Amino acid sequence: MKKYILIAGSPRQDGNSDRVCEMLREQIEARGCEAEIFRIEDKKVNRCMACNYCKSHDGCVQKDDAAALMQELTEAAGAVFVAPIYFGSIPGTCKVLTDRFYSLFNPQKGKAEPDPARRLGVILTCGGSPEEAVRPVGEFVNVCFALAGFGDHKTLVFPGQNDKDAFTGNEEYQKQTKELAAWLTE
Ligand SMILES: Cc1cc2nc3c(=O)[nH]c(=O)nc-3n(C[C@H](O)[C@H](O)[C@H](O)COP(=O)(O)O)c2cc1C
Repeated sequence: MKKYILIAGSPRQDGNSDRVCEMLREQIEARGCEAEIFRIEDKKVNRCMACNYCKSHDGCVQKDDAAALMQELTEAAGAVFVAPIYFGSIPGTCKVLTDRFYSLFNPQKGKAEPDPARRLGVILTCGGSPEEAVRPVGEFVNVCFALAGFGDHKTLVFPGQNDKDAFTGNEEYQKQTKELAAWLTE
């Protein structure tokens, strides 16, 4: 069965990012695939220590939830990274995770060849920032996930989402989320 990893990047419990991930899981499972939510806030994610162990060994020296996630990501059919925008970027907790992607390549192994069949979705929920200011954050996330072999991606930006339950009341963003799930699993 095809497996999809949904990364929920907000420290806020039951906010927009959590709701987006729940909808994605429901949609993906309805298409006969497996979906697992990795809620960063509930996981053990140590910071990259820049020890360079990963440059002469397979994988990271730290055996925490982030290391297990990276292994899963290299095997997953697809993934979605869902996060709020904090001061024009992803929250610090998400950045701690993406720094760990450094261990996905080393000079001996090289990098995974990005496979266009393995798709990445990025959903960025925010308040007043204009969409064009947020869109480059999706490109940054895509560069990180390409290291795990994801070869195609789409970014959705959901502005005007300051209230915790804004997504729950926004039919347009729900429609876009469902379309993304369909694209990921087609
Ligand atoms: C520390 C902090 C910084 C934020 N910075 C921005 C920002 O730069 N631009 C923006 O549009 N919204 C900003 N916001 C608003 C959140 O991105 C927005 O409320 C988002 O939808 C929250 O998602 P969540 O419900 O998943 O936590 C910020 C919120 C916080 C708590």
